[in-house]
Amino acid sequence: MAEKKVLVIGSSGQIGTELVEGLRERFGAENVVASDIKEPQVEQTGPFVMVDATDRRGIERIIEKHGITEVYLLAALLSATAEKDPAFAWKLNMESLFIVLELARDGKLNRVYWPSSIAVFGPTTPKHMTPQHTIAEPTTVYGISKLAGEGWCQYYHKRYGVDVRSIRYPGLIGWRSAPGGGTTDYAVHIFHEAIKHGAYTSFLGPKTTLPMMYMPDAIRATIDLMEAPAQHVKERTGYNLAGFSFDPEQIAVEVERHIPGFKMSYAPDSRQAIADSWPQSIDDSAARADWGWEPRYDLSAMVDDMMTNLVPMIKG
Ligand code: SER
Repeated sequence: MAEKKVLVIGSSGQIGTELVEGLRERFGAENVVASDIKEPQVEQTGPFVMVDATDRRGIERIIEKHGITEVYLLAALLSATAEKDPAFAWKLNMESLFIVLELARDGKLNRVYWPSSIAVFGPTTPKHMTPQHTIAEPTTVYGISKLAGEGWCQYYHKRYGVDVRSIRYPGLIGWRSAPGGGTTDYAVHIFHEAIKHGAYTSFLGPKTTLPMMYMPDAIRATIDLMEAPAQHVKERTGYNLAGFSFDPEQIAVEVERHIPGFKMSYAPDSRQAIADSWPQSIDDSAARADWGWEPRYDLSAMVDDMMTNLVPMIKG
């Protein structure tokens, strides 16, 4: 079998920035090609190329030139941004997936990773400990694109034997990269504002509980799923994955442990309706049983680690 060579499409985003680093640590910097339509957020230790995720020829050229065997396709518009331009969100999120699935079907890739989201669920889904297989009637364009994408992943797997794997990420929190356009982004912004100004106005109301995860857990899960033996990967839509759940009021209390006098206020906007349509907690027993997933961080451990890293970064 050919040596593993990874291409990450959408490497400059919130997940991509950290995933590239994780993959380079695991497989060697030169074996991981980062690519995006935007400049990277951090200095690159390995190859980086500019590419548009909807440019099939451009992607094909990179695969050929670098002998790529696996693609992680992360390029997408997220929930809040997608609502502003549904047609473009659909085009970007779907066309890029089709390109990669087709390249895999043509035998040009051994394996594909594509992120899904808790956004596949909607108001009719059971909100607590949402099961792997349940009602999924999303009300956002982002959720519709993720649900359709999951269906296509499963279809390409069953019909053409494409080895495509996916996780339904909860809200992701990290300090190395900036989020963009998501409904769960408040849980990252709060740290930056608390450290800089001692105050934060949340765009979600105080009792809006959502499933979340610390980025190191998400990166480890992603690479573990991709490295699992194919016969262990029984779900070919997207795996439910849980870290911990909290609401803005609860994270504010945790932040205040580090920043005494921290002041939280609330000004819910259009993102509130998106958050209200999503589950509050996730049952991830399938991921645990099939490929040994287990989270390491809870809310307090995440907040401690965020503060340890962000305070010196922001305050110098
Ligand atoms: N964190 C994402 C968002 O808020 C959910 O996948 O859009």
